[in-house]
Amino acid sequence: MKPKNCLIFGGTGQIGSFLVRKLTKNGYKVTIVTRNIHQKGIFVKSSGNQGWIDLVEANIFDEKKIRKLFENADICINLVGILFEKKRGGSFKNIHTIFPSLLAKMCKEYSLKQFIHLSALGINEATDSNYAISKLQGEIAIQKNFPLTTILRPSVVYSSSDNFTCNLMTLLNRLPIFPLYYSGKTKFTPIHCSDLTNIIFNVLSKNDSHKIIECIGPEIISFKNIIQKLLKLIEKRRILIPLPISLAKMSAFFFEKFPKPLLTRDQLNLLKYDNISSGKYKTNFDIGLPSTLLFENEVKKYCFMWKEGGQYSTEEYRFSNKTDNS
Ligand SMILES: NC(=O)c1ccc[n+]([C@@H]2O[C@H](COP(=O)([O-])OP(=O)(O)OC[C@H]3O[C@@H](n4cnc5c(N)ncnc54)[C@H](OP(=O)(O)O)[C@@H]3O)[C@@H](O)[C@H]2O)c1
Repeated sequence: MKPKNCLIFGGTGQIGSFLVRKLTKNGYKVTIVTRNIHQKGIFVKSSGNQGWIDLVEANIFDEKKIRKLFENADICINLVGILFEKKRGGSFKNIHTIFPSLLAKMCKEYSLKQFIHLSALGINEATDSNYAISKLQGEIAIQKNFPLTTILRPSVVYSSSDNFTCNLMTLLNRLPIFPLYYSGKTKFTPIHCSDLTNIIFNVLSKNDSHKIIECIGPEIISFKNIIQKLLKLIEKRRILIPLPISLAKMSAFFFEKFPKPLLTRDQLNLLKYDNISSGKYKTNFDIGLPSTLLFENEVKKYCFMWKEGGQYSTEEYRFSNKTDNS
């Protein structure tokens, strides 16, 4: 049987790299569109067997080039997303609304079998966040243009190559004091990247068309508790200070000026809302795809990179040292 061809946008990111590995292992051919083939080429090409991954360099708004790719595609997956806006076309509206809407139109025009789009959890509630507004408007446009789309709304996604636990552990390593926005009470349902890619793979391989699926992990954890767990894992003690919102806004205003901001005012608005299942849509648990990986157990596997002694600080080595001495 001819392998199905998946056209993936944003396939070089955290979720993309896990997904590409899973798809190529299971007999799917993938074509990944990237803006920078030189930077991402070697890393992406080595995620699967030779001949199963095609990498194409393109501007995602280069309609002529993108149309050519649609001619050979069976399935389209959109993983393109940003956390802060950039100049030259990198606005939330362009990336989260206009681009996915364009993809959905092409999915219809080229009669694709499936379109899977990654949105985000909690976007109905976060009405004062431009990130959330743009994601929500993107969903509306997609559903109008290609009603067969499956929209996945993940909570925060973590793995050894994320922008979440890795950034937090770096900051916790360097700062003696750590600020808690909204007193650290915001709740999250972190999902491990491999649990999320299992969900994407199952939706894709079973050709299950669900309109919106909220993708959540097995635990509800507050932001403060996440920080405490990370501190315990990297064996550090830090002072956690609830930061008044006025001060938080001022610091975000300052951080926004950096090329890769640690925090923006829009992210601060987003942080106000719990990132847990809304109860309005089906979750991965409801459709028989429960996530199983526990936050602390999984981060433990890669947190040694932020510990004194690196991998030699892990239990495995501590244990072997004890037995060597005895
Ligand atoms: N990670 C999370 O915690 C989380 C939570 C909820 C929802 N999501 C959503 O899930 C999707 C994938 O997330 P991820 O964590 O894998 O993201 P990621 O690691 O940041 O990767 C995002 C990808 O988007 C592409 N991209 C970024 N800006 C672009 C631009 N201006 N033009 C074209 N391409 C651009 C990049 O591709 P190139 O650099 O190769 O061009 C990159 O591979 C996103 O839509 C995100 O919003 C993620």
